[in-house]
Amino acid sequence: MASYDLIVIGSGPGGYVCAIRAAQNGLKVAVVEGRETLGGTCLNIGCIPSKALLHASHMLHEAEHNFATMGLKGKAPSVDWKQMQTYKMDTIGQNTSGIEFLFKKNKVDWIKGWASVPATGKVKVGDDVHDAKNIVIATGSEPSSLPGVEVDEKVVVTSTGALELGKVPRRMVVIGAGVIGLELGSVYARLGAEVEVIEFLDAITPGMDAEVQKQFKKILTKQGLTFTMGAAVQKVEATKTKAKVHYKLRKDDSDHVADADVVLVATGRKPYTDGLGLDALGIEMSERGQIKVDAHWQTNVKGIYAIGDVIDGPMLAHKAEDEGVAAADVVAGKHGHVNYGVIPGVIYTHPEVANVGETEQSLKDAGRAFKAGKFSFMGNGRAKANFAADGFVKILVDAETDRILGAHIIGPGAGDLIHEVCVAMEFGASAEDLAMTCHAHPTYSEAVREAALACGQGAIHM
Ligand code: NAI
Repeated sequence: MASYDLIVIGSGPGGYVCAIRAAQNGLKVAVVEGRETLGGTCLNIGCIPSKALLHASHMLHEAEHNFATMGLKGKAPSVDWKQMQTYKMDTIGQNTSGIEFLFKKNKVDWIKGWASVPATGKVKVGDDVHDAKNIVIATGSEPSSLPGVEVDEKVVVTSTGALELGKVPRRMVVIGAGVIGLELGSVYARLGAEVEVIEFLDAITPGMDAEVQKQFKKILTKQGLTFTMGAAVQKVEATKTKAKVHYKLRKDDSDHVADADVVLVATGRKPYTDGLGLDALGIEMSERGQIKVDAHWQTNVKGIYAIGDVIDGPMLAHKAEDEGVAAADVVAGKHGHVNYGVIPGVIYTHPEVANVGETEQSLKDAGRAFKAGKFSFMGNGRAKANFAADGFVKILVDAETDRILGAHIIGPGAGDLIHEVCVAMEFGASAEDLAMTCHAHPTYSEAVREAALACGQGAIHM
């Protein structure tokens, strides 16, 4: 069978990016992927299809709520669910075939099938065993299960089933107020479903800036989602068309039941390493089922590397991509680098929510002196014109040096605005540097500059 410098297992954002970079580094590369199309969870059943549905449902929301005010008359459109699914599938297709094109362009071979690693330097796919000087494991993650809850992907679904429901449900219960629960919950709420989110903790989106959490919950409530907080789900009883979600309120131990046509279980994901044969190879794993790697993404077995959701860190496509590039450089004998302190996180609801770096809480916990500069989109002309003034930008800086330590944005285009702060942080910039940079008017990014100004002498438009 063929012999390669590098075989990457898994073609998600971590794996395919790693393969392309390795080929650009002059290595002979193959990717093993068992799915019918390339791109992994993100392109096929995650980031990309959910963004199509978020976009479509946002358009409907705009038509229903803001068109008349802007002088756009006529009946708001109704939902053609079948066509919306076609649009979603087309979007997936364009992206997955794009990766196939990039593989051909970069001479990366696609070995179709599911891989195992029978020995160092060997990758088995079906009956074929391929030689590989180096192996990168990029097999991603899968939804974690919840005791007492059986997923059928029809009535009780994970994100996978939630993206392809037969119809928009009348009533949906979402278990878990994390990224997946809120993104998909807001899609179905905008398409007309009654959506109740049941969350174990007392705040939504754990780990986020506390003010963002509060404002975000307020906005989502205004959009029609209801929240039951501090509730531990005990079990879900489901028939072919309905379900009952049994939960206990933590404050008084009382038992409750919520009825639903569809239950979305969104309580986290876990690394996916089934069938690779890592045990037999003696690859060290953490207690949480993650593959342990050193500072060069190499496992305890020489020549076998791991990146993305199967290792420690946030389960984010772009984190996996950065690790893919770095690992491909290491394998090619170069220096690989990922700045884990500057990895943005984005929730693609409307408004978007984005963050990077430290939170006020993490700085307090570390006993660091900091200042916060905040600016509301209420003071941003463009946001007001676009019915998008709900939200703010907050920048955190070192109290002594003014160096930017983190940023938290809820508002229009937050997922794009955050990168201005990411670049500033990469260059070790101060808030004053950001504030002195001319920002075009009228743009949402003026709010970032104003928040930077608020770290010093003060914002102008507040
Ligand atoms: P998550 O970790 O973001 O949120 C899970 C939520 O479920 C938490 O709030 C947790 O407190 C709650 N929970 C856990 N057990 C519960 C129970 N028994 N009853 C009630 N609530 C319970 O997990 P999620 O949303 O499933 O996402 C999984 C991963 O996928 C995350 O790491 C996320 O970063 C990633 N992802 C990222 C996206 C993005 O960047 N936009 C989009 C989708 C997923």
